Amino acid sequence: MTACIIFCLDFRYLLSQLTRGLQLALLITLEGVEGSGKTTQVRRLKRYLNRKGVPCVTTREPGGTRIGEKIRRILLNRSHRDIVPMNELFLYEAARAQHIKEVIQPLLRKKVVILCDRFSDASIAYQGHGRGISLRWVEQLNRIATGGIKPHLTFLLDCPSDTGLKRALRRNLRKKDKEDRFEREEIQFHNRVRRGYLSLAQREPSRIKVIDTRHGEEMVFQEMRQHIDRLLRRKGY
Ligand code: TMP
Repeated sequence: MTACIIFCLDFRYLLSQLTRGLQLALLITLEGVEGSGKTTQVRRLKRYLNRKGVPCVTTREPGGTRIGEKIRRILLNRSHRDIVPMNELFLYEAARAQHIKEVIQPLLRKKVVILCDRFSDASIAYQGHGRGISLRWVEQLNRIATGGIKPHLTFLLDCPSDTGLKRALRRNLRKKDKEDRFEREEIQFHNRVRRGYLSLAQREPSRIKVIDTRHGEEMVFQEMRQHIDRLLRRKGY
């Protein structure tokens, strides 16, 4: 029975790799530690692509669907300090499976850029490196939840964890945001997440572009724009 399930999941993965060539959509994801400025850049990139006449959809993880947004509220609620790491991982993957089925998959055959604020790399960085769950398990669950879908391009907006954290805490105070369970983690956790992201970027340099956010919002945007323009040209957009 187990062998049969594993075979089916691996077959789904194999199939997704074979049909990747048929995909028209481009999946671009943004990652980074807390307060790295992803959300602002997603907005700017969407405006840029719209002006260029390139169809673009923005979405996020956890979230992007009705159910996913509910899971997001459970995950980020500051009073849920007792969520154990495995539960946390499963909830992210559950939201991801819903997001893939409802939002990403239906877009794959369309000529559209999907800009996603966090994706599966976040589970490797946060639940793998941050919480200490086996990276192999996180990778396997990512593969199951995404059905093997991987971003074409990923931006890792990088800054020292304490700089980002201060920015995120200021923002939360301004917005009176109570969905800050992660921002309340100790700095060591955020340092592990950052190191995790950087090691992912080292492993996959052609997909993951590290952008130093200390250069300021405008420079970050211009750097990302250049990478996107190059990808669009290569894919005949
Ligand atoms: P956001 O604040 O960037 O929207 O992300 C929500 C939080 O969820 C952020 O602290 C990072 C965390 N997260 C994970 O821990 N694992 C994941 O797989 C994802 C997508 C986000």
